[in-house]
Amino acid sequence: MRTVTVGVLGSGTVGQDVLTLIQRRRDIFSDIGVNIEISGVLVRDLTKARNVPAGTPLTDTCDFLQQSEVVIECMGGIDRPLGLLRPYLKSGRPLITANKALLAERWDELREYALNGKLYYEASVMAGTPVIGPMSTVLRASTFKGLLATLNGTCNFILTQMEQGKEYAQALSEAQALGYAEDPPTLDVGGFDTAHKLTVLARFSADGNYAYENVQVTGIEHVTLEDVQAARARGEHIKLVGELHQEGGQWQATVAPRSLPHDHPLCNAGAGRNALVYEGEESGSLIFAGGGAGGMVTASAMVGDLLDYVLGFPGHVPLH
Ligand SMILES: NC(=O)c1ccc[n+]([C@@H]2O[C@H](COP(=O)([O-])OP(=O)(O)OC[C@H]3O[C@@H](n4cnc5c(N)ncnc54)[C@H](OP(=O)(O)O)[C@@H]3O)[C@@H](O)[C@H]2O)c1
Repeated sequence: MRTVTVGVLGSGTVGQDVLTLIQRRRDIFSDIGVNIEISGVLVRDLTKARNVPAGTPLTDTCDFLQQSEVVIECMGGIDRPLGLLRPYLKSGRPLITANKALLAERWDELREYALNGKLYYEASVMAGTPVIGPMSTVLRASTFKGLLATLNGTCNFILTQMEQGKEYAQALSEAQALGYAEDPPTLDVGGFDTAHKLTVLARFSADGNYAYENVQVTGIEHVTLEDVQAARARGEHIKLVGELHQEGGQWQATVAPRSLPHDHPLCNAGAGRNALVYEGEESGSLIFAGGGAGGMVTASAMVGDLLDYVLGFPGHVPLH
């Protein structure tokens, strides 16, 4: 048996479920001769009760990073995790992350690691619904024509509530009460979370260096109940849509509310689900749909990335 030491940054919604899933699926690792040993789990508050396997080595210092063969980052933020990880990344060891904000906004620093196959980030877009895997491998053979996607569960929830007659402010406060939207909710409702995810996708399909700053972003804050009701009267739904398309030979990434016919794949993915329509000249039109958030859904992709790493598969390499 080979022991693989895994360090984890963060033990919140995602981190707890990553630790639980590694424990639950020990047999798939032992079947391939690997014993996963958790070298440390970084948290802020050591007194907080957590739903993690007994014996999990929680700590508020990062010393364990030096003893980790792989690190799984589930703490969120941009400069704080990057600051902690910089020496670790420089040593050339792999990182698994669900952090689309970090990937979108600090690509100058991370691109080299990604090109070396050291970055695994299936969970960063659509959480447990695998789109990055196919887009970074088999779909490369097909000529990319564009994509349309709903990538933010909070906006889906708010717009669905508005279809049931609620004003935007009421739908937003319900989303916050249920823990679906942060306070302040700007990252979600302003379209920036969708823009982060679209940037990550653009780097597999349009331009390996696509800059987050180039995404044109309009959020849902100005969508009114009247807009939503008028769309319903036409047999349409308003969705916050991320789109990648070519215009004058240049790739454009846009995020904006759009009214789509009720039978469009982005409208009938199901409640609480994200969807993506991928257009390839040779592959044709492909539809991906599934859970785009939630601890265990996200953990399933992150533990899948860990399995890929121990099996010897490289991380997700952008266009180059
Ligand atoms: N939640 C989802 O459904 C989802 C889906 C896809 C991707 N993601 C991504 O996954 C990442 C984690 O999300 P989450 O929802 O799990 O966040 P979360 O519940 O807020 O958990 C964050 C964890 O990181 C720890 N942490 C934060 N700042 C820290 C610091 N300065 N020092 C030490 N520990 C610190 C927290 O410690 P304490 O517990 O002690 O406060 C907590 O355990 C984010 O990048 C997010 O975008 C989340």
